[in-house]
Amino acid sequence: MIEPQEYARRRRQLMRMAGPDAIVIVAAAPERVRNHDAHYPYRQDSDFHYLTGFGEPDAVLALVPGRGPGEVILFCRERDPERERWDGPRVGTEGAVATLGMDDAFPIDDIDDILPGLIEGRTRVYYHFGRDTEFDLKLIGWVNSVRARVRQGATPPHEFVALSHLLHDLRLYKSRNELRLMRKSAKIAAEAHVQAMRATRPGMSEHEVEAELLHAFRRHGAVPSYEPIVGGGANACVLHYRANNAPLRDGDLLLVDAGAEYECYASDITRTFPVNGRFTPEQRALYDLVLAAQLAAIDEVRPGRSFDAYHEAAVRVLTKGLVKLGLLAGSVEKNLREHTYRTFYMHKTGHWLGLDVHDVGDYRIDGQFRQLEPGMVVTVEPGLYLAPDLKGVPAKYRGIGIRIEDDVVVTRDEPEVISAGVPKDADAIEALMAARA
Ligand code: GLY
Ligand code: MN
Ligand code: MN
Repeated sequence: MIEPQEYARRRRQLMRMAGPDAIVIVAAAPERVRNHDAHYPYRQDSDFHYLTGFGEPDAVLALVPGRGPGEVILFCRERDPERERWDGPRVGTEGAVATLGMDDAFPIDDIDDILPGLIEGRTRVYYHFGRDTEFDLKLIGWVNSVRARVRQGATPPHEFVALSHLLHDLRLYKSRNELRLMRKSAKIAAEAHVQAMRATRPGMSEHEVEAELLHAFRRHGAVPSYEPIVGGGANACVLHYRANNAPLRDGDLLLVDAGAEYECYASDITRTFPVNGRFTPEQRALYDLVLAAQLAAIDEVRPGRSFDAYHEAAVRVLTKGLVKLGLLAGSVEKNLREHTYRTFYMHKTGHWLGLDVHDVGDYRIDGQFRQLEPGMVVTVEPGLYLAPDLKGVPAKYRGIGIRIEDDVVVTRDEPEVISAGVPKDADAIEALMAARA
C-alpha cells in the first residue's frame, strides 16, 4: 500500500517541476457505460491515481504551486447517503482533506465556479490535451471564462503544455513501495501461470485455461492487467490472439500471455509449454533458442545500457540460432545486417511496465534510446512465430509460436526478475507438468 505521504511527495515534486506560475489539472477516469445501466469495471486513470491514490470517478485534481490558501485542491463527489446505499461509500470533500492529504476539497458540481479562479493569474496550464474530448471542452470553457474578464483585470494563461513530459518521467522511476506492489503483482501472475500449466490437458479448451488464470488473480484480489492471450498451436502465431475458445490438441504448444493488476500495478508474463507436458524435438529446439535469447536480453537490463541493447541482444541470439537451424540462409552477419529475423520475430523485445502494462515514459531522448537507470521496470519478451502458411520453412516447424516474457527491475546490481515464480526452463516445465495430479 502506498501511504498518503508518498502521494503528497509526488505532487510536490510535480509542482516543483511545473514551476510557481503554473497550474496542473488532472481528471479522474470517466465511468463508461457498457449497456443500459451496466458499466465497464471502473479503473482509475493511472496519472490521477499516481497523484492521489483516490479511486472514485467524477473528480479533478488541481495543483496550484505557491498558492497561499492551499496548493493541492480536489474536486470530488459529495457524500450522499441515498446514492451511497446503491453504489457504496464515497470519501467526500471532508474525507479528501482528512484522509487524502488535500489542502482543500470542493464538490465537483461547483468546479465551473471555482476552477477559473484558480487558473486566473497562472501563465501555464499543464494538462493532458486530447485524452478526453469532453473534458478538453470544459477546460477551454474555464479558460475562456477567465479571458472574458480581461477588462476587469483578469490575466488568463497563455501557455498550454502537455503534462505527460513531466509526469510520465516521474512515473518511469519506481519507488521502493511501488516496487513492492509490482513484485506482488508479478508473484500473483506467476502463481496463476503455474496453476494454468498444472491444469492444462489435451482436449480442454483455451478458455478453461483462462479460467485458471482468472481464478488465481481474483483469489489474491487482483484483476487481469489486460485480456489474457491463451493460444494453442498455431493460434500462438496470432500476436494479439484473443478468442481463447479453441480446443487444445495433444502435441501442440500453448502460449499464455497474462498479467495481474494489483493495487493498480501491472505484471505481464508469457509462458509457452506443451499441452501434453512434453516438448517435441522441433518445439524444444525453437523453445531453447527463444529462452537463450531471453536470458541474453535480461543480462542487458542494467544501468547505463541503452533501452535498445536488450532487444539487440535478443536479435543476435535469435539470428544465430535461426541460421544454425537452417531457417535463415547465409552468414549470421549478413542476416543481422538485413534484419531477416523479422520473418519470425516481428515485435520489440519489451516495454516499460508500471501502473500501465505498456507503461508511460519516453523511450528516446533527443532521438537516442535512453539509458536504463535503477528503478525502471521493463518486460523482456522475445519470441518466434512460424505461421502455418509461412513459406520456405520446413513443415515440421510450421504452426509453432513461442514467446517467453518476464518482468525485470533495473537495479544497481544484477537484473531483478520479479516474475521468476513460474518456471521457463524446458526441463523445469516438463517436471512441473509431469508432477500434475
Ligand atoms: N501482453 C502485452 C504485451 O506483452 O506487451
Ligand atoms: Mn505480455
Ligand atoms: Mn509485454
